[in-house]
Amino acid sequence: QPRLYSGIQPSSGSLHLGNYIGALQQWRAMQGDFDAFFSIVDLHAITVPQQPEVLREQVRTLAAQYIAGGIDPDRACLYVQSHVSAHAQLAWLLGTITGFGEASRMTQFKDKTAKGGQEAASVGLFTYPILMAADILLYDTAVVPVGDDQKQHVELTRDLAERFNKRFGQTFRAPKPVIRADGARIYDLQSPESKMSKSADNDKGIVWLLDDPAKTAKKIRSAVTDTDGAIRADRAEKPGVTNLLGILSAFTGSPVATLEAEFSGQGYGVFKTAVADAVVAELAPVRERTLELLADPAELDRLLAANAERAAEVADATLGRALEAMGLR
Ligand code: TYM
Repeated sequence: QPRLYSGIQPSSGSLHLGNYIGALQQWRAMQGDFDAFFSIVDLHAITVPQQPEVLREQVRTLAAQYIAGGIDPDRACLYVQSHVSAHAQLAWLLGTITGFGEASRMTQFKDKTAKGGQEAASVGLFTYPILMAADILLYDTAVVPVGDDQKQHVELTRDLAERFNKRFGQTFRAPKPVIRADGARIYDLQSPESKMSKSADNDKGIVWLLDDPAKTAKKIRSAVTDTDGAIRADRAEKPGVTNLLGILSAFTGSPVATLEAEFSGQGYGVFKTAVADAVVAELAPVRERTLELLADPAELDRLLAANAERAAEVADATLGRALEAMGLR
């Protein structure tokens, strides 16, 4: 089976709705057709300051959310990035074939440093897409299911793979991003022109997977919409309603066009309640299962340790090929 690879940063105590829809729902749907690797990318999480004890806890919490969200831990390899040393090693090798200008064009870095300025950013934050390329290339990955904000990083990965192969001989497989049509980008419920993000200043517009269901429903019912009253998708004129349609589509499997027809002529109150109900119906059991899994941290640690060994076998072999090709062995 071809390989699938993806990962999420353990940089908050809970996934948000954007991660859930952009990543986890897709992973769950695709995992049966691929040899799937899902990592908890802790090395990426330390590109911004972390508290060690908190980070340790967030890694377990994220592992529990992967499993509770439907990742099959008996089939997929669910592991922690830093447990496999080949990631950092290959990132160094790839850094030597990445252009400084090329890395400077990554829009996520520009966005993330827009507020605090580049002076305050770490070099790790700058080179982070190269580490992501290493993650993907180590596993001979065919497909990378991600939200739309990661597309440029997967394209960089492809470019680096092709450049390396041209310079040093066939070594890496060039991966393809897989981005869902509806719900590739979920926006903040309070400011629907910005994407839902862990680093937002205010948490009212963010639905956290581990929020209690009443809070989730309330956040959705308080989502910012508009005054025109029509339930139709129009990203420019009606970002709030469009976002809610995308969310409802992700949770019901109905295309946005079908939902527009279904809710035509109904008020925003009815519509928002339908969105809240659909989200809560799916997320409440995921939350409960996460909490159950977290009650046995030793079991989670055992699973992560066993999977790290399996991941390292694949990753070390690829790293060996790259070292050899570059003249380092
Ligand atoms: P991260 O941790 O920021 O986000 C994890 C996943 O969630 C998706 N996502 C969204 N999708 C839709 N709407 C949103 N508002 C939204 N916010 C986040 C992201 O696109 C992503 O799929 N660099 C990556 C992690 C990573 C990775 C990898 C991914 C490291 N190595 C290798 C794939 C393959 C990141 O920071 O994602």
